[in-house]
Amino acid sequence: MILVTGGAGFIGANFVLDWFRQSDEPVVNVDKLTYAGNYGTLKPLHDNPRHVFARVDICDRTALDTLFAEHRPRAVLHFAAESHVDRSIHGPADFVQTNVIGTFTLLEAARQHWSTLDAAGQAAFRFLHVSTDEVFGSLSAADQPFSETTPYAPNSPYSASKAGSDHLVRAWHHTYGMPTLTTNCSNNYGPYQFPEKLIPLMIANALAGEPLPVYGDGQNVRDWLYVGDHCSAIREVLARGRVGETYNVGGWNEKKNLEVVHTLCDLLDQSRPKAAGSYRDQITYVKDRPGHDRRYAIDARKLERELGWKPAETFETGLAKTVRWYLDNQHWVDEVASGDYRKWVETNYARRA
Ligand code: NAD
Ligand code: TYD
Repeated sequence: MILVTGGAGFIGANFVLDWFRQSDEPVVNVDKLTYAGNYGTLKPLHDNPRHVFARVDICDRTALDTLFAEHRPRAVLHFAAESHVDRSIHGPADFVQTNVIGTFTLLEAARQHWSTLDAAGQAAFRFLHVSTDEVFGSLSAADQPFSETTPYAPNSPYSASKAGSDHLVRAWHHTYGMPTLTTNCSNNYGPYQFPEKLIPLMIANALAGEPLPVYGDGQNVRDWLYVGDHCSAIREVLARGRVGETYNVGGWNEKKNLEVVHTLCDLLDQSRPKAAGSYRDQITYVKDRPGHDRRYAIDARKLERELGWKPAETFETGLAKTVRWYLDNQHWVDEVASGDYRKWVETNYARRA
């Protein structure tokens, strides 16, 4: 069995859904169900006995110890985090709590479990920490992309708290010998992403006839990766990554924010034309994010060289798939926007808890 944290969030849920398309190995899915966790996303697994859902906070050591003792996982995949930069600016406390204290608590619970395994079990155990390229800070246009040896220079409360968690994971390997792995991935997009992040927010606002709010001059650069490719990279690193190592994950898809918004508008103009004009007409420039990182770019050659991983999607194919998914699954966005997915948690999950 594997233990996944944050498996009701965007990337974690995609990972768990993909896992069951390729494996019979059970998953214990540990998620607090914050505003970003959506139990409804896991609907295809609600009656699957190999998927055990536990509504647990990763800061709760007692609950984690119980889960480890009961399920004795061979690996931990740690996705749970507060993940939105803008929220971290308005309320950094939750980020320090979950990303730093939560990761520390999970590491300690995992170490306790690991210490009970025999030598072969200890050697085979893995703690895979899912992190971000934002820990490396901001690049100028002329800089080389981030590599695994780029010094850490986080600029937002979000990236600083993720950097803190990465350092803890590193130390638990060097000090205690825990078999850890860390992945630092670029910006993800795809199905089930909470519509507070750029791509799903722009699609939702476009279809609702709302303004498309571009921060600052719209020239900030992000390196985009389709979520399914992030999940395949994590599976590769889990299976064959060298313990104690970090792996950068990215798709060589650097785009300026305005380019992304224009492409989204063009895709929507084709598949859901407005009565008059283009979705581009809804673009509005708004005040910039404080401390807004200018450019992120990932050098993913280590992952390709050592593990042969390459993304399956280009930005064009991935974005087209994503727009199609949001058009076909508008009820998912509507439930999130109306808060109905929270009611779903209360009525369906609370009864089971
Ligand atoms: P998300 O915000 O969509 O989901 C986070 C999940 O964690 C939610 O289900 C939430 O309920 C859960 N969670 C939050 N606090 C918790 C706690 N204290 N205990 C248990 N569960 C808790 O995030 P995401 O976009 O899916 O990101 C997943 C991971 O990947 C994060 O660690 C993030 O830093 C990392 N990452 C994200 C991106 C991206 O572009 N989204 C890129 C690189 C790395
Ligand atoms: P976001 O999806 O929040 O990811 P991150 O900040 O972690 O990279 O934002 C991606 C880029 O889009 C970032 O440069 C900020 C910008 N952005 C906007 O211009 N408008 C928006 O409404 C949002 C949410 C983001």
